[in-house]
Amino acid sequence: MPLVTSTEMFKKAYSGGYAIGAFNVNNMEIIQGITEACREEHAPVILQVSKGARAYAIRTYLVKLVEAAVIECPDIPIVLHLDHGDSFETCKSCIDDGFTSVMIDASSKPFAENIEITKEVVKYAHDHGVVVEAELGTLAGIEDEVNVAADAASYTRPEEVEEFVTKTGCDSLAIAIGTSHGAYKFKPEQCTRNEKGILVPPPLRFDVLEEVSRRLPGFPIVLHGSSSVPQEYVKMINTNGGKMPDAVGIPEEQLRKAAALSVCKINIDSDLRLALTGTIRSFMNEHPEKFDPRDYLKPARANIKEVVRHKLVNVLGCAGKA
Ligand code: G3H
Ligand code: 13P
Ligand code: ZN
Repeated sequence: MPLVTSTEMFKKAYSGGYAIGAFNVNNMEIIQGITEACREEHAPVILQVSKGARAYAIRTYLVKLVEAAVIECPDIPIVLHLDHGDSFETCKSCIDDGFTSVMIDASSKPFAENIEITKEVVKYAHDHGVVVEAELGTLAGIEDEVNVAADAASYTRPEEVEEFVTKTGCDSLAIAIGTSHGAYKFKPEQCTRNEKGILVPPPLRFDVLEEVSRRLPGFPIVLHGSSSVPQEYVKMINTNGGKMPDAVGIPEEQLRKAAALSVCKINIDSDLRLALTGTIRSFMNEHPEKFDPRDYLKPARANIKEVVRHKLVNVLGCAGKA
């Protein structure tokens, strides 16, 4: 089947009490690792490209690699989504390139301005058969293109969501309930430690999620910053020359709970980066004589696939839903 929008996926996910995985893609091996797991587990999937990824890979490459995945995996629905679109122009450019879904992230702007920008994107997108994710509330975290200091982050205000969704016409809404971008989601002083000395983060604000869902019945909610930062990969990185002390993510059981409620899309990027980096670091350490990129990219791709399989089956609940 050709690339699809997320409309049907979200309807089924909402009523079925599961979420679709939205995985960030930056190169061929990441796309293959994700889509192979989804093909084998019969799971629908959202492949998302950030502005930074698009700049890194140069505009058309990721679109063409995703089109190749569509050919290789004809039986699963695949969405090509722009992650954190920063302007009307970026969203328009992706829509013109064949993306089936875009995010306009004007969440750092004042409420009225966020509405105006989102509305403009929704008009162009809907005229072209493309769906739009918008955001209310700001997540903390630092990556190439997403950089919000912890003290500038704020939870979504449930009393704003009905007006925002009605006025903008957006198709899904990302909210801030305590997740954050990257591999350092919480400072050690915000956490407790378990018996192994591993940081345990503060719980997500399910009260905010429930109030948003009460005000927007049946409407798909999105969670960004939802990597769980698997400690096995943090350890693999740290024991092979890396330095990622106190990296901590969102506990998987909380994501599972969110997926059973109104959360229909869960964004995961950092966990795939950790799997790729840990595997390559470990391989390089064990095989210092090797220099063929295929030697280390192959196990990295295989481990990305297993991380994604685990998410589909044990966290998102979308295995078998294609
Ligand atoms: O939320 C942001 C994603 O993890 C993408 O990060 O802007 O470094 O590609 P990036
Ligand atoms: P993580 O950094 O938790 O993987 O979040 C990714 C994300 O939200 C992409 O938009
Ligand atoms: Zn994000």
